[in-house]
Amino acid sequence: MAELMGDWKRTHMCGILNTEHIGQEVTLMGWAHRRRDLGGLIFIDLRDRTGIVQIVFDEQNCGAFFEKAEAVRSEYVIAVKGTVVKRDPETVNPKIETGEIEVSAKQLKILSASATPPFSIEDDTNVSESVRLKYRYLDLRRPEMQRNIIMRHRIVKCVRDFLDSKGFYEIETPMLTRSTPEGARDYLVPSRIHPGKFYALPQSPQLFKQLLMLSGYDRYFQIARCFRDEDLRADRQPEFTQIDIEMSFVDVEDVISLNELLLADIFKKILGVEIQLPLPRLTYREAMERYGTDKPDTRFGLEIKNVSDIVAGCDFKVFSSAIERGGSVRAINAKECAIKFSRREIDSLVDYVKNHNAKGLAWIAVEADGLKSPITKFFDQEQINSLLERLQAEMGDLLLFVADRDEVVFQALGQLRLELARRLNLIDDREYRLLWVTEFPLLEYDEEEKRFVAVHHPFTSPMDEDIELLDTDPGKVRAKAYDAVLNGVELGSGSIRIHVSDLQEKMLNVLGFTQEQAWERFGFLLEAFKYGTPPHGGFAYGLDRLVMLLLGRDTIRDVIAFPKMQNASDPLTNAPSDVEPKQLRELHIRVDS
Ligand code: AMO
Ligand code: AMP
Repeated sequence: MAELMGDWKRTHMCGILNTEHIGQEVTLMGWAHRRRDLGGLIFIDLRDRTGIVQIVFDEQNCGAFFEKAEAVRSEYVIAVKGTVVKRDPETVNPKIETGEIEVSAKQLKILSASATPPFSIEDDTNVSESVRLKYRYLDLRRPEMQRNIIMRHRIVKCVRDFLDSKGFYEIETPMLTRSTPEGARDYLVPSRIHPGKFYALPQSPQLFKQLLMLSGYDRYFQIARCFRDEDLRADRQPEFTQIDIEMSFVDVEDVISLNELLLADIFKKILGVEIQLPLPRLTYREAMERYGTDKPDTRFGLEIKNVSDIVAGCDFKVFSSAIERGGSVRAINAKECAIKFSRREIDSLVDYVKNHNAKGLAWIAVEADGLKSPITKFFDQEQINSLLERLQAEMGDLLLFVADRDEVVFQALGQLRLELARRLNLIDDREYRLLWVTEFPLLEYDEEEKRFVAVHHPFTSPMDEDIELLDTDPGKVRAKAYDAVLNGVELGSGSIRIHVSDLQEKMLNVLGFTQEQAWERFGFLLEAFKYGTPPHGGFAYGLDRLVMLLLGRDTIRDVIAFPKMQNASDPLTNAPSDVEPKQLRELHIRVDS
């Protein structure tokens, strides 16, 4: 049934037609979205990436083509010649852009037929994600997905234009390379020519972009594909894209202010939203103390308060002993929740924090007839007054306490804060809260490995005033590292790098590498540093996350054309898959299963 286009040339896209085109002869091509048969009249909604336009086949006007129109089914690809006409007022469809006009068809070609799709090509299609991904090419036809993918293009274009205007060059770096230490597992690619050896796919272009600074390119960027073999979540994929940036002769302020201009430009051009600059900043310490996390969502309050000084030495052993052991007691005032929450709901909050590693959740309800609480009996009046004052408690408030090591307290209350905001509906979806978190710790102690590991990566520079601490108290050293956070999601991170080989070697040493091991793994970088290295630093955004947040989506899978499932597989191509024994032999690989 399929016909050739022949000498037909498309004159217009569907979604752009409007009353200005009335009277024009047009040739349209696209997918038959829907067909309605009203006896002597057939309506076909014709769809392309710009939208939908209604085509009318009138048996009186289009003769033999009418029969052909009867044969058209959903998702057939057709070409139509006709005239743009004004719709009768009563048939105007205000829901679509082209709703004031329709195309009165004269001729029709069926360019290709379609099997019945496994789900309808509509925004509110209600099928499982595995079916959507198996038929991703159909899923990507849905107007909503097309908007997402097209917006992604716009955002990338905006980034490229902005960085180009600021003197950045886009330079590609290799995909087949050596392991780059960003803290995840590598994807390895076996070498055929070098038996038993492997390339690693880059976790980021980190080392190459540093080398480019050394080579004098001064300002680099790349829309870079990165690969990390880690457990997937809504905002994590095994391959994802970074907007990767590096600059020479800069310090923290320079990188931050360049990125603020970039973010403001994107928000303006893409959303029409003016961002107030400079963006708010929190030090890592402050972010942890106030929000219990290094990526705070500041669209709502419910800040955490330290009450350790008030309850130290109190009769409630859970509190006093946590403090004696070097931990703390911290609290959130859940405003009005003594009224809003039943006892059952309070109990479910206790379960909630227990699922986030806390041992329990103590509470005080400030009610009209006094305080209700399992723990007030352990405090004297002065302690109670101080608690109420510190937490600015008012009638109806519910005060929630966790005692433990700082790490546990932050995690539990940080998560509880988000849970309370969800339950109380405190988050305004239309709001964008961007901020910087600065002065991250350089190192953290890994109990399992019994050594320090880099919080960002091993090339991050300590803060000038903390360098001395590297020898005496490495855990206290702060880094010239900063994250950009948007609505509680880590959008990107970066740092000023170490550019002196001595300091880099010392850093690797603190991380537990012997000198030989350091040279074995990063020798090429340490060697390079000997040949005149400019001070440099940079930043990388998760592009997928940026697009997801700008479009208000819940997962980065919705803004990636061909993403992987939660288990890192692709139901469309069935990757990963078995390979031919011959291929394995060539690669000198024997599979052990
Ligand atoms: P980092 O490891 O923090 O820094 O990565 C930068 C940003 O990349 C995004 N991201 C991811 N997005 C989707 N799926 C993933 N699996 C994933 N992993 C990371 C996040 C993150 O903030 N080389 C350094 C940057 C630098 O120092 O310049 C780096 O890669 O949004
Ligand atoms: P218990 O003495 O274990 O019965 O606990 C008394 C109250 O303190 C209960 O409401 C517990 O949920 C709470 N609680 C227990 N452990 C902690 C903790 N580490 N931090 C805060 N509250 C706790």
